[in-house]
Amino acid sequence: MPFGLVSAWNKRRRSKSEDHTDPWIYKPAEFWQLEDQTPQPTKRLHGSSVFILKEMEEATGSFSEENLLGKGGFGKVYRGTLRSGEVVAIKKMELPAIKLAQGEHEFRVEVDILSRLHHPNLVSLIGYCADGKHRFLVYKYMHNGNLQDHLNGIGERKMDWPVRLKVALGAARGLHYLHSSSDIGIPIVHRDFKSTNILLDANFEAKISDFGLAKLMPEGQETHVTARVLGTFGYFDPEYTSTGKLTLQSDVYAFGVVLLELLTGRRAIDLNQGPNDQNLVLQVRNILNDRKKLRKVIDPDMARNSYTIQSIVMFANLASRCVRADSSERPSMAECVKELQLIIYTNSKGLGMVMHSLRMI
Ligand SMILES: Nc1ncnc2c1ncn2[C@@H]1O[C@H](COP(=O)(O)OP(=O)(O)OP(=O)(O)O)[C@@H](O)[C@H]1O
Ligand SMILES: [Mg+2]
Repeated sequence: MPFGLVSAWNKRRRSKSEDHTDPWIYKPAEFWQLEDQTPQPTKRLHGSSVFILKEMEEATGSFSEENLLGKGGFGKVYRGTLRSGEVVAIKKMELPAIKLAQGEHEFRVEVDILSRLHHPNLVSLIGYCADGKHRFLVYKYMHNGNLQDHLNGIGERKMDWPVRLKVALGAARGLHYLHSSSDIGIPIVHRDFKSTNILLDANFEAKISDFGLAKLMPEGQETHVTARVLGTFGYFDPEYTSTGKLTLQSDVYAFGVVLLELLTGRRAIDLNQGPNDQNLVLQVRNILNDRKKLRKVIDPDMARNSYTIQSIVMFANLASRCVRADSSERPSMAECVKELQLIIYTNSKGLGMVMHSLRMI
């Protein structure tokens, strides 16, 4: 284990309380320099473990193809088994030289944020490895992978409406926790909220992942920070892209896009469609409050006896407000949580399953 890393980390934690500097300010690269490369066993650090490269290799069968879970912009993700027997997902940073600095920054933000935040709807970080040039993030393994694969995945049985509502409510609660000062006293904007970043556990409880682009919102009067536009095509808040001003409401827009994916089973961006129909928001925005036309966009793969039209109408109305161009007209995540609870209740009541809804909300 890189001893220097731990001591540097501890020094950093001490200095935070001693000199009252902002713990979130980007630290210079020297901070991560290693003083002692001698491999040592795993150490537990403030709830997160620090691993060495050898442990990552052992856990994943030397990153074998059969353990590959998926691939994203940061690198490949492998299923792994730690020495303790715990099954985990290991994300390996694999970036071209030109993107290494951004990758390193995202790695630190992810570790910093996730090791301090704990909520049933955020993915749990078990630990990380920063051994030499190697970077890995180790998460609790999510049995049902990501939401997008369930909505558009090939050969998967499609989710019915109550499960989609449960996922929407879980994701809303996770975002609400991030936005409401959470455990660290500063609201956080996720900035890359999307259906592949919503992971699902064995009970289809939603867990928000990938905090590498997250930003802390300043306290006091300011309601926005100016930031380079980063995120994913299809989920961009139009106000953020045109002004560069990032607000918590940018996440609400992305949340609205995910609601539309849950409702229609379509992708946020579908390159197989004609140029005017690729963007899901533009495709459906005008019909979301039209009861008749709305029926035509409900995911045809969803069991008809799993939803009531009343709950669909309410859900579509919420989605339409989340994706409004003017960010001040979008609901807060607290409002989204409340409305989704009511939608779940309405659907269950319509289907004669009120007791079921009480368990869900
Ligand atoms: N904790 C986990 N448990 C199970 N599977 C996971 C876990 N974390 C990630 N995965 C799988 O690995 C895939 C790749 O994840 P990753 O976050 O690298 O990329 P992405 O979200 O698809 O794209 P992007 O890099 O643009 O965010 C995910 O889509 C998911 O299926
Ligand atoms: Mg991801």
